[in-house]
Amino acid sequence: MLNYGVIGVGPVFQNFQVEGLLQSQSVNLYTACDLKEDLLTSVQQQYDFKKCCTDYGELLQDSNIDVVLLNLPQHKHRDIAVAAAKAGKNIYVEKPFASNLKDAKAIMSACEKHGVKLCVGHQRRFITTERKAKEIIDEGYLGTVYKIRVIASWWQDISEEKRAWLTDFELGGGGPLLRWGVHKTDTMRFLLDQEAVRVFAEWDQFVFDQPHITVEDTLVALYRFEGGVIGELEVGNAQREAGFQRGETIEIWGDKGTLWYQPSTGEMELYSVEKSTNVINPDAFMRTSYEPDGKEMTRIHDRFVESIEKDTDPPITGEDGYKALEMAVGAYRSAQSKKVVHFPLDNE
Ligand SMILES: NC(=O)c1ccc[n+]([C@@H]2O[C@H](COP(=O)([O-])OP(=O)(O)OC[C@H]3O[C@@H](n4cnc5c(N)ncnc54)[C@H](O)[C@@H]3O)[C@@H](O)[C@H]2O)c1
Repeated sequence: MLNYGVIGVGPVFQNFQVEGLLQSQSVNLYTACDLKEDLLTSVQQQYDFKKCCTDYGELLQDSNIDVVLLNLPQHKHRDIAVAAAKAGKNIYVEKPFASNLKDAKAIMSACEKHGVKLCVGHQRRFITTERKAKEIIDEGYLGTVYKIRVIASWWQDISEEKRAWLTDFELGGGGPLLRWGVHKTDTMRFLLDQEAVRVFAEWDQFVFDQPHITVEDTLVALYRFEGGVIGELEVGNAQREAGFQRGETIEIWGDKGTLWYQPSTGEMELYSVEKSTNVINPDAFMRTSYEPDGKEMTRIHDRFVESIEKDTDPPITGEDGYKALEMAVGAYRSAQSKKVVHFPLDNE
């Protein structure tokens, strides 16, 4: 069991992370750090942290801390992660890895230089449904995959949003594509085991076009992957009436079958000409549901702690986080320039 120091105990920590961390046998919540003292007091009492502080430097000096968990806006990742690496702490950083590629590289270099492990928070790879989809593809039920379509588009009103990093492109590095689209670029890489070679994207502000909002509310990107797969990614927060679950779907086509699923509901449909499937069902057409068990956060942290203890690769490496971010940055550069953008990108 390793001691975690959590920097940033805002909504994501409380709503998405803490339950999974508490369920882990590998994680001991040791110190909570946040600029907001009232938040610290309530979080410390609620989750039984041993210590709390408002200065992350204090946390980094504590030799009891093995892992630093960064739950901060992405433009704050670089400085704190580099300081944590220098202090010899292993780092779990929330997605998006950083607000730009240069910062992401700086974090990776610091971790390498100081010999600490780095894991980027793409926990969605550990959702039950995503793992089942990967298994179906890897077992060959779709044959050779040639097309993937990922939609992550729902309604989220940001007109009154006070956190500038969510509405200011310069500060945060992007809008919905960076906020949740990077989970999907990561999903594409995970499912396909291929890297993108080029992208063309279109974006706009169809609904949230107020002067203080400089991020997209709609973006569609078309990727080509090294193995030939064509990938389409649609993200946005302007899709009315589409709840989070209905607005999130993945479709994959191969020469022997088609798979459609919704990661968060677990709804899944498979057509395969390979009938002898014992992975799922002996029929060519299957409609089923793999109820997600909600344990993805526990799984990723268990695996990360194991990688530290056994000195193996983290479940999601810095390179993985970088590639997911690079796919998003490439789409932005294409949308801005109205040109096809080729990978790898210049990271300056
Ligand atoms: N993995 C996922 O599925 C997922 C989902 C949503 C968001 N996220 C990511 O989680 C991160 C946090 O999101 P959020 O909505 O909680 O952000 P937030 O800005 O609402 O909260 C961040 C917290 O960090 C604190 N903080 C800021 N600077 C600090 C500093 N220097 N020292 C100590 N504390 C500091 C703030 O006071 C705040 O309480 C973001 O990077 C976001 O993209 C991940």
